Amino acid sequence: MVDGVRVFHLEAAEGRSAFLPGLSTPTLGYEGDYLGPTLVAERGEKVRVEVDNALDEETSVHWHGMHLPAAMDGGPHSPIPPGERWAPEWTIDQPAATLWYHPHLHERTREQVDAGLAGMFLVTDPEEASLALPRAYGVDDIPLIVQDRSFASDGAFGGGLSMQFDGVLGDRILVNGTLAPYLDVSTELVRLRLLNGSSARMYDFAFADGREFDLVATDGGLLAAPVASSSIPLSPGERAEIVVALAPGDRVSLVSTAPDPALHAGGAAFDVLELRAGASLAASPPVPAKLADLPAPDAADAVTERAFEMSGHEINGAEMDMSRADAVVTVDTAEVWTVVNDNPLPHSFHVHDTQFRVLSIDGEPPPPRLSGYKDTIALEWDREYRILVRFDDYADPTTPYMYHCHLLWHEDQGMMGQFLVV
Ligand code: C2O
Ligand code: CU
Ligand code: CU
Repeated sequence: MVDGVRVFHLEAAEGRSAFLPGLSTPTLGYEGDYLGPTLVAERGEKVRVEVDNALDEETSVHWHGMHLPAAMDGGPHSPIPPGERWAPEWTIDQPAATLWYHPHLHERTREQVDAGLAGMFLVTDPEEASLALPRAYGVDDIPLIVQDRSFASDGAFGGGLSMQFDGVLGDRILVNGTLAPYLDVSTELVRLRLLNGSSARMYDFAFADGREFDLVATDGGLLAAPVASSSIPLSPGERAEIVVALAPGDRVSLVSTAPDPALHAGGAAFDVLELRAGASLAASPPVPAKLADLPAPDAADAVTERAFEMSGHEINGAEMDMSRADAVVTVDTAEVWTVVNDNPLPHSFHVHDTQFRVLSIDGEPPPPRLSGYKDTIALEWDREYRILVRFDDYADPTTPYMYHCHLLWHEDQGMMGQFLVV
């Protein structure tokens, strides 16, 4: 803490990582060779992140899921030249959640993210901290950044990557930068904070033996109550917190089952993480039956409706234009946005600055797993998603926020728009 401000430091630099025996992979990382440190801050805290660009090219850092002023958001309007520092400052003002950070350069996001620039940003708050949930970081509360990669014979990323209309798919899974990972478990319950940190691949996470788990939180924080689940689909950028029970001696793998290949890029199945329970496990209190106050979203709160049609690499028939504001919204209001994926390709919809609620999908209430705060949602083909989006606190007539498909290849191709909050 410096003068009441929690200060973090992130230096983006080139590195080399040993993923494969005897080979070294050129990578990018924050404060290290690959990925970046988990940043943790409490609601109400003022934070400053000193980002140093030690690359020989521009970068930017976007705080995905964070509610903050547009000038601090780190989108394509905030490039950091090589050798320079950018130090955004803001006050954390949102419920406890699993957020993340990554570069967001105009037309060049995928490259830097795929090379290793990403990390988690955990927000805590007293309400979440008062619940009997696993929260010993690295012991029974485990961040999992799941990425697909391929390797050339010299160890570099890229060999064998399939470049499709949806972007780049890898044939190996890295979790927190590790191939074929396992976790030694010492408690009866483990909380896994899953982030789909891949550029294009969609996952449907489950346990190999079919065991159920509790879904306790999504992108923007806790659900009202745990949702007993046997699988959880996540498109790029989405997060889910799950709590799973183990018995002494259990060996069980978190796997990704093959999602519908027509709508989810690449249908392959993967082992993601093996959980290895010890011979005796420390007792964990049961997951609370109530997690958070989450009033049902009410479309009557909206002052305006807008429609977004995702098609090809365009939104509403246009590619991203850095100098065009696609929407101008009024600060401290809510709007209903209707989003439709018009072609049978995998797309998603991500909105900066805000956590939205899903009102309906094709006129029906969303499934329980989509009942909480979301900032990114997978769009199945030809279905109508109505979401309630709030734009609180921060007006800025010149710096826009982004909304876009979070398949990074699509985003880089221009499947993105900008909105001003005034
Ligand atoms: Cu995760 Cu606009 O980004
Ligand atoms: Cu974002
Ligand atoms: Cu897309």
